[in-house]
Amino acid sequence: MQSIIVCFLLMFSVVSFGAYYPPVVSKTGIVVSDQYLASKVGARILRQGGNAMDAAVAVGYALAVVDPCCGNIGGGGFMLIHWHDGQNIVLNFRETAPAKINAKLFFNAKGERIEHKKLGYLLVGVPGTVLGLSAALKKFGTMTRQQVMKPAIKLAKKGFVLNRFDEAVIVRGKKAFVRQPNIRKIFMPKGVILQAGQRLVQKNLAHTLSLISKNGADVFYKGSIAKAVVAASALHHGVLTMEDFKNYKVVWADPINCSYRGFPIITVPPPSSGVTICETLKIIEAFPLMKNAFHAANAVRYNAAAMSQAFYDRNKYLGDPAFIKNPITQLLSEDRIKAIQTKIENGQLFNPIEPLIPDQSLETTHFVVMDKVGNVVSTTYTINSLFGSKLMAANTGFFLNNELDDFTLKVGHANQFKLVQGNANLIRPNKRPLSSMSPTIVMHNNKVFMATGAAGGPTIITTIVQSIENAIDYGMDIRAAVNAPRYHMQWRPNIIYMEPFSLSLDTIAILEKIGYQLQNKLFGRFKYWGAENAIMVNKANELTGSSDNRRPNGRAVAEDSSHKSPAKKTMF
Ligand code: DON
Repeated sequence: MQSIIVCFLLMFSVVSFGAYYPPVVSKTGIVVSDQYLASKVGARILRQGGNAMDAAVAVGYALAVVDPCCGNIGGGGFMLIHWHDGQNIVLNFRETAPAKINAKLFFNAKGERIEHKKLGYLLVGVPGTVLGLSAALKKFGTMTRQQVMKPAIKLAKKGFVLNRFDEAVIVRGKKAFVRQPNIRKIFMPKGVILQAGQRLVQKNLAHTLSLISKNGADVFYKGSIAKAVVAASALHHGVLTMEDFKNYKVVWADPINCSYRGFPIITVPPPSSGVTICETLKIIEAFPLMKNAFHAANAVRYNAAAMSQAFYDRNKYLGDPAFIKNPITQLLSEDRIKAIQTKIENGQLFNPIEPLIPDQSLETTHFVVMDKVGNVVSTTYTINSLFGSKLMAANTGFFLNNELDDFTLKVGHANQFKLVQGNANLIRPNKRPLSSMSPTIVMHNNKVFMATGAAGGPTIITTIVQSIENAIDYGMDIRAAVNAPRYHMQWRPNIIYMEPFSLSLDTIAILEKIGYQLQNKLFGRFKYWGAENAIMVNKANELTGSSDNRRPNGRAVAEDSSHKSPAKKTMF
């Protein structure tokens, strides 16, 4: 008993006083994103009197400029909106597969999967971001499109000075940029890749954004931008058509609702993975995590088993609701959850299967805004891989996604995230691929308690689950909850992946003894773990925000000038 108490004291002394850094605090509004300039754009929009949606749309466009690997107009995503009048709604602006797509196109004559690099335009889905941001602004915004796009256009036209974190991201696209003159001239204007201290100017992107600002989404879906993408696709054996662009629609949907230890959870429905978050949390609910201390073997065992089951179900049953029936009620039914809990209680594990190594990388981006009246907009959008397909149609200035890799291209084949998915997510014309992007809101006493979301492929799901546990079970503040080390399990491969410092050697030994395989991530790969950006309302009713240290360029910025909030967490 004594040792448990000592362990707790140690744990909280580390969390509270050691490497601890307080969250950004605000009474009137907060914006958290992966790139500090984009967060500042959002905070400025709030200061100018815009609401959370005005700021979110401005951030969405700004990230497309200042975080070109991930922020985008060439991809798609999901937005979860909680409005001060009590309304909760989801905007699905996920990409769709072109009408002429066919699974056979992705395999050679021997039935082998063709490399990403060689697939080029075949992996590009019809982008949803521009129509998504436009529909969201129309429904909830108070400012004009021109007002909210102005900062992004300025950042693209005038450029911004890169810091070392921007440079670290851009450098990773170098190999692909060198081969393509239209991209090379942006990121390698003098023949070598831009470095920290130099200015990234994106004139073509500024022009594209100005066209959208002036003419609205139509220019992207029916006008010159669609034409440029379709022409480039045709030139490179792609199947995108003007019809695909014209037919693209966003979908407004009801959220998925569940609860965790009495805290109502609001999250996104298929084709994303809110159901998987709910299923994991519902299974965990039976187990007293706090009693087992933070990351103790038993706590990890419960989580790992719950994560495995929920991922197994995700990969087997979930897909685009426009094409398949998602058995949500069955997956979350009390009887089923109870049966799974009993199995875990009895120490049963999933059968070990072949070990594959998932490639965690920094490719998606999540941003969240809360304003003074309590509106919350939590958005994750992506072009899938780093710089998406690494393709830019002519002089459009933006990267296109490679989202079609998220489909099941062949049952039993793993995708780039080593997800082995089933029939429900098979690629079909006009279908949307299953996604892990799951912006989520946790409520308490009828008020927002936490608004969160993450990047990181399948680790998005386990990141959100663990930060909710960190906040609810372990009482961490938002900064600690977001930045605590994590682990990840996704059914296949049957391995618990650990971030550095996430599990002690003693814990690893216990878990191995009961049959788990664990794999340590090397330091060099630390930065590739999923990155979360989140807001929490504290007991004093203040908004507190934290970006993720795993993306050192991220920042939480308060609306009410950030003097009293620690604005910087790293040296530039
Ligand atoms: O929608 C999905 O699940 C993936 N396309 C997300 C990719 C991702 O998060 C990449 N990494 N940061």
